[in-house]
Amino acid sequence: MKLAILLLFLVISQLATSNGMDVHLLRPFSGVGDHPITGVSCTSWRFAVETNNLRGWLTVPSTCEKYVGNYMIGGYYRQDSAIVVSEAIKYAKALNSSGDSNNIWIFDIDETTLSNLPYYAQHGFGVEPYNATSFNAWVGKSMAPALPESLKLYEKLLSLGIKIIFLTGRSEDSREATSWNLKRVGYHTWEKLILRGAGDKSSAVVYKSAEREKLVKKGYKIVGNIGDQWSDILGSPEGNRTFKLPDPMYYLS
Ligand SMILES: *[C@@H]1O[C@H](CO)[C@@H](O)[C@H](O)[C@H]1NC(C)=O
Ligand SMILES: *[C@@H]1O[C@H](CO)[C@@H](O)[C@H](O)[C@H]1NC(C)=O
Ligand SMILES: *[C@@H]1O[C@H](CO)[C@@H](O)[C@H](O)[C@H]1NC(C)=O
Ligand SMILES: [Mg+2]
Repeated sequence: MKLAILLLFLVISQLATSNGMDVHLLRPFSGVGDHPITGVSCTSWRFAVETNNLRGWLTVPSTCEKYVGNYMIGGYYRQDSAIVVSEAIKYAKALNSSGDSNNIWIFDIDETTLSNLPYYAQHGFGVEPYNATSFNAWVGKSMAPALPESLKLYEKLLSLGIKIIFLTGRSEDSREATSWNLKRVGYHTWEKLILRGAGDKSSAVVYKSAEREKLVKKGYKIVGNIGDQWSDILGSPEGNRTFKLPDPMYYLS
C-alpha cells in the first residue's frame, strides 16, 4: 500500500513537471495492462515492438494507451534513450576520427532529434490512427522540443569533428518549419537536411537507404546512424553502426 502511494506520488510529480502538457492521470505502474488479443502485458508488447518482432502495427492497443503514456512521460523513455546515447558516444569517441572531414552521422528527426510528445499527449499515445492534417499543422508551428539525450549526442559528435546529416520522412514543404525548429532548440548547424521530395510515395526504408546510398557515392563515410524506427537503420548502406531509440507510439515501414 505504501509503495502504491509512493508510486502515485512519483507519477503525479513527473506529470506536474512535464511542461503543463494536457494529460490525464496515468496509472502508476509500469507492467500492467493486458493486450486485448494475446493477453500479454504491455511491457511484453513494447519489448516485441522495440526488437522489431512485431511489425506493421497501426495503433497502440487501447489497453496499453495509459501504459505507453506513462512510459513516455514518467521517466523510463528518457532513461532508455540515455543508455542508447551513452553507447553511441562511447563508440564515436573510440572511432578517433578527427581529421577525416568526410565522416558523417545520420540523424532521423521525429522522435530522434525532435520530440512530438506535446502533440501525442494532446491526441493520445498512438491509439488514434495517424492524422496527417493535424500532425502537419503541429510541424508547421516549429514547437517540438529537442530530445535532450539526442542533443547531447549531437553536441558530442560535433566536438569530435563528425558532421551531422538530418534525414527525415518529413516532406520538402516543411523544410523551413523544420529548419527553424531545429535551430530554435539547439541544433544550430548541419551538413545537410534531407527531406522527402514532393510526391515520393516510397516506404521509409526504401527512401532512406536510397538517400544514404547517394551520400556514400558523394564520398561521405556514414560512421553512425540513429533513429527511433527500424526503417531508419535497416537497408544498405546502413552506416558502420546503428542505434535504435525507443518509440512505442507508432510504427513506420
Ligand atoms: C587517435 O589518433 C591519434 C592521432 O592520430 C593517435 O595519436 C592516438 O594514438 C589514437 N588513439 C587511439 C585510441 O587509436
Ligand atoms: C484530422 O484532423 C483535422 C484537424 O484537426 C480534423 O479536422 C479531422 O477531422 C481529422 N481527421 C480524422 C479522420 O480524424
Ligand atoms: C565502415 O563501412 C565501410 C563501408 O561498408 C567500410 O569500408 C569501412 O571499413 C567501415 N569502417 C569501419 C571503421 O568499420
Ligand atoms: Mg523518427
